[in-house]
Amino acid sequence: MRIKIIGTGSFVPEKALSNAALEQMVETSDAWIRERTGIGSRRITETGTTDMAVRAARRAMEMAGLSPGELDLIVVGTSTGDCLFPGTACEVQAALGAERAACFDLSAACSGFLFSLNTASVYLEAGTYRTALVVGADTLSKTVDWSDRGTCILFGDGAGAALLERTESGAEPEAGGRKSEDAGRENVDRPAAGERESRMGPFLMRADGGRGGVLRCQAAPLRNPFIKEENAGDFGYLSMNGQEVFRFAVKTVPEALEELLAKAGVPAEDIRYFVLHQANERIIASVAKRMRQPLSKFPMNLEHYGNTSGASIPILLDELNREGRLGRGDKLALAGFGAGLTWGATYLVW
Ligand code: COA
Repeated sequence: MRIKIIGTGSFVPEKALSNAALEQMVETSDAWIRERTGIGSRRITETGTTDMAVRAARRAMEMAGLSPGELDLIVVGTSTGDCLFPGTACEVQAALGAERAACFDLSAACSGFLFSLNTASVYLEAGTYRTALVVGADTLSKTVDWSDRGTCILFGDGAGAALLERTESGAEPEAGGRKSEDAGRENVDRPAAGERESRMGPFLMRADGGRGGVLRCQAAPLRNPFIKEENAGDFGYLSMNGQEVFRFAVKTVPEALEELLAKAGVPAEDIRYFVLHQANERIIASVAKRMRQPLSKFPMNLEHYGNTSGASIPILLDELNREGRLGRGDKLALAGFGAGLTWGATYLVW
């Protein structure tokens, strides 16, 4: 039994907010932002998380050629849904008309897609469901204090999706995502036939709630007959200790990747791409250095989108897929990190 990705999709809003535009809003500069983060622009939604999630999901469904009625499970990794309830996954289900699908959201901030992917794969592995739509979608723009130059330069909005299917080993129908197999590949040895079967896992997921205060966004305050309105406090804005988060990321991500690859029995040299959460170019470069792997194996799109939280990994995966840069049998290591603190990694053979 194998779990594989049979379709990917993504969506970013049209409206772009460049570093030059931010220079007009806070005391910052394009040069500072690029040097410290690698970010040049970010996209900002005017329609919200559900709309972006639905658009990304539709693209993944189209690629896979799967009809909504065939969907068994929808998991949306988001911490910025349009509503507290219903969950975004239920709204996506309604928009797609996927009436049979079980639906829930998963809250793990920027690790949300990765944790959702792993969670969905366990349901498939257990035989509970055969197909799953996994979406990472976030609207960080509504949590950002646009007068705080320490955070407002970092984040953007977007959504990405992956469709998973369980197949019996050896029975692998050709998927839409495979049409571009080997197209545009750089010089890598092709894996032997036996190693080319698509599969997902192992994975790992970690959390350290004790350090949660370094990246936080308070939800609506308590409001009841026992609590006076004036004691309710501020809420809704993201607060962050940037240097602590930076240190956390450059330590935990390489450790997680090393543990993952040891579990998978695959040397780092064999990994075609490390698909990392797109938070900061310097974090990604530091991980590459610690892994003693060339930066060319760490694709990036954060220059254009900034940190799109739970959406960053599936957007990047979809771009790699649509550009024909993923060939059947390519070994990928995904890694995410974010508020919680949460972090994790997933191994998959494309
Ligand atoms: N423009 C210009 N100057 C800025 C600025 C901005 N947008 N933001 C902060 N500064 C200033 C600070 O006020 C400080 O000035 P000072 O030296 O006069 O006090 C100086 O730049 C250095 O600030 P510092 O916070 O030390 O910068 P840094 O090198 O750590 O970079 C981040 C800040 C936020 C870019 C960096 O810490 C980071 O990327 N951390 C990880 C954040 C992250 O990825 N979060 C999401 C995780 S999912």
